[in-house]
Amino acid sequence: MTKKYNIAVIPGDGTGPEVVAEGIKVLDAVSMKSNFRLSYQNFNLGGEHYKNTGELVNDTVFESLSRSDAIYLGAIGHPDVKPGILEKGILLKLRFHFDQYINLRPVKLYEGVETPLKNKGPEHIDFVVIRENTEGLYTGAGGFLKKGTPDEVAIQESINTRKGVERCIRYAFEYCRKRNKRKKLTLCGKTNVLTYAFDLWERTFMDVAKEYPDIKTDYANVDAICMWMVKNPEWFDVIVTDNMFGDIISDLAAMIQGGMGIAAGANINPSGVSMFEPIGGSAPKYTGKHVINPIATILAAQIMLETIGEQKAAAKIEDAVKKVLRDDLKDVAAGKMGYTTQEVGDLVKKYIVNSE
Ligand code: IPM
Ligand code: MN
Repeated sequence: MTKKYNIAVIPGDGTGPEVVAEGIKVLDAVSMKSNFRLSYQNFNLGGEHYKNTGELVNDTVFESLSRSDAIYLGAIGHPDVKPGILEKGILLKLRFHFDQYINLRPVKLYEGVETPLKNKGPEHIDFVVIRENTEGLYTGAGGFLKKGTPDEVAIQESINTRKGVERCIRYAFEYCRKRNKRKKLTLCGKTNVLTYAFDLWERTFMDVAKEYPDIKTDYANVDAICMWMVKNPEWFDVIVTDNMFGDIISDLAAMIQGGMGIAAGANINPSGVSMFEPIGGSAPKYTGKHVINPIATILAAQIMLETIGEQKAAAKIEDAVKKVLRDDLKDVAAGKMGYTTQEVGDLVKKYIVNSE
């Protein structure tokens, strides 16, 4: 029987709709080659919608999203909306609402893509960052005292629960085992200063590690991770870390794999609704110019298929992307590809259509 998946699509702001259209083009092509079908429901969320209606995400939308098999997101962000409103009101809201406690960021340098790291190639850059996605500094815990006075105090608390830390670490061990590459999991923390939060992380890491004797474990402080990621990226297989450090190191990692044009991520609830997105923003200055690279969004679709259990189709997408990066694109940066956004989508589609 042909399986059907309902994909909730949030094209969002700026270049979001342009890249999502290419992602859907590719998803349709690959589903035609597979024994599943995808149906899409569009949700009009983002800065434009907020400006017009004053609304971020309402209960009806949450309700509909919760009935989908996955959420496919373009970009959220608007130059006329104060920073924080859309991020907290939409993106983080969705992550928290659906308890997407894993932020998964594969970091892979594909052949034909330039890395800013000297003397490093695809054989050196192939790792995954697993970031806790619902706790840490992101919960919004804290507040002001005496705001606006010379005695003002601002407190932003990092919340780390045994349950939250453990489920993330456990996911990372499982992922590392399934990935079956170097079978090495590195905990990225700051045990030398954050002696409460990362004490909990380290103890949990060591406890869970006992159940995974086949996985090598390693620890490094976040500042050292930044050093090694630039100097010896080949040391990493899977890295697990908290929300804030994960946010930072995954952008560093995105740059060494070629930049925002190809960096994709997933917000995963292993037993719920997950959300897949390119990690670049809405790129207002490129909006409507058809120069933005849709590969990041197409790779987000690849992770989406992998996560919902369509590994073969996901691999087809990756194979096609590899060919485009190796043989076709001049550069992965916006405006330098030698092709328009739509043409890049067409190229990926062509390789899928012509695949076995
Ligand atoms: C990301 C983004 C978000 C984050 C912002 C937009 C809230 O930077 O997905 O990494 O900090 O998590
Ligand atoms: Mn980020």
